[in-house]
Amino acid sequence: MVQRCLQELGYKILNIITWQKTDPPPNLSCRYFNFSTELIIWARKSEKVPHKFNYEIMKHLNGDKQMTDVWRLPAVGKWEKSCGKHPTQKPLRLLYRIILASTDEGGTILDPFAGSSTTGIAANLLGRNYIGIEKEKDFYDLSVARRNELQDSEKRQKLLDNIRKTENCATVLVNHARKELRELMIEKGICYLRAGDSKGSLQVTPGFERMKYVLLHTNGENCQMFQLKKEGTFQIWTKENLEKYGFSPEHSPYYIVLHFDNKPMEFLQTPSDLKQRMNTYKARLYPINDFV
Ligand SMILES: C[S@@+](CC[C@H](N)C(=O)[O-])C[C@H]1O[C@@H](n2cnc3c(N)ncnc32)[C@H](O)[C@@H]1O
Repeated sequence: MVQRCLQELGYKILNIITWQKTDPPPNLSCRYFNFSTELIIWARKSEKVPHKFNYEIMKHLNGDKQMTDVWRLPAVGKWEKSCGKHPTQKPLRLLYRIILASTDEGGTILDPFAGSSTTGIAANLLGRNYIGIEKEKDFYDLSVARRNELQDSEKRQKLLDNIRKTENCATVLVNHARKELRELMIEKGICYLRAGDSKGSLQVTPGFERMKYVLLHTNGENCQMFQLKKEGTFQIWTKENLEKYGFSPEHSPYYIVLHFDNKPMEFLQTPSDLKQRMNTYKARLYPINDFV
C-alpha cells in the first residue's frame, strides 16, 4: 500500500528490505506463525534523481560479501532504553545501517515521525545532521534526553560498541583443507591456518569473538561442522608444535590453531561460494544462520 502510494507520487522504489528480527517475542496464542519481520522501503524521489549507496561499506559490514535485502538484526535492546522507552522504538542498529548505507557524512536527515528519535541518535553517531518532528511532548522530551546522553563520551562509545556488534548470533569458521589434511585435522580435533597475510590465512572480521563452530571442506566438498572446545578462542602455535601432532605445515613459521570436538554436527546447508578456482581459498567467518 505505502509502496503503491510512493509510486503514484513518482518515487522510484530501489529495494524492499526485510528486517528479520533475530529475537522476536513469542506468539502467545500459538495459532499462527510468529511475526518476525518488518519491511523497509528504500525509494528515491524520482526516476531521474540519483541516489547514494555506500556499496563497499555495506559489503565490508557483511564480511566482504554483497549485502542482501534481508537484514537479520535483533529488536530494541535494554541498552537503548536508558532514558525511557517509546512503544514502537526502532533499534539503533537498524537506523545506523540505513543511514550508513544511503547518506554521506555531513548530510541532513529528516524524520517527520521522530518518536524517541532513534534516527537522530544514529545520525549523530555517524556525523550527520538531523531534523525530527514529533507531536507528543513526552517523546520529544525522551528524544532530548537521548541526545543529551551522547555528550557523555563513555556512553557514546558504549552505544557505538553495541551497534557494531551487529548480530549476536554465533559464527562459523569455514576452512578448506586438502583431503588427507582435513582427515588428520578431524582425527586430532585441530584446525590450523597460516598466521600472517598470505593465501589461506584467516581474515579477522567482526564475529571472531562469537566463533563457535568450524566447518572443514575440500573445495566445497565433504563439508563437516564441529563445535569449538572454547568459543572465540584460538592459539598461536609454531610449525614445530604442529609437527609433534603429526602435521607437516610448510608455509609459515606460525599458525592459528583452533581446537574442536571431533564429533560432526548436523546442519542443513552451506554457503554457495565455498568452491574456489586456483587455490584462492580464504578462511572466512559466516553467521550460523547461513547453515540452518
Ligand atoms: C512509529 S513512531 C516512531 C518511532 C521512532 N522511529 C523511534 O525509534 O522511536 C511514530 C511517531 O510519530 C508520531 N506522530 C504521528 N503522527 C504525527 C504527526 N502528524 N506529526 C508529528 N508526529 C507524529 C507519533 O507520536 C510517534 O511517536
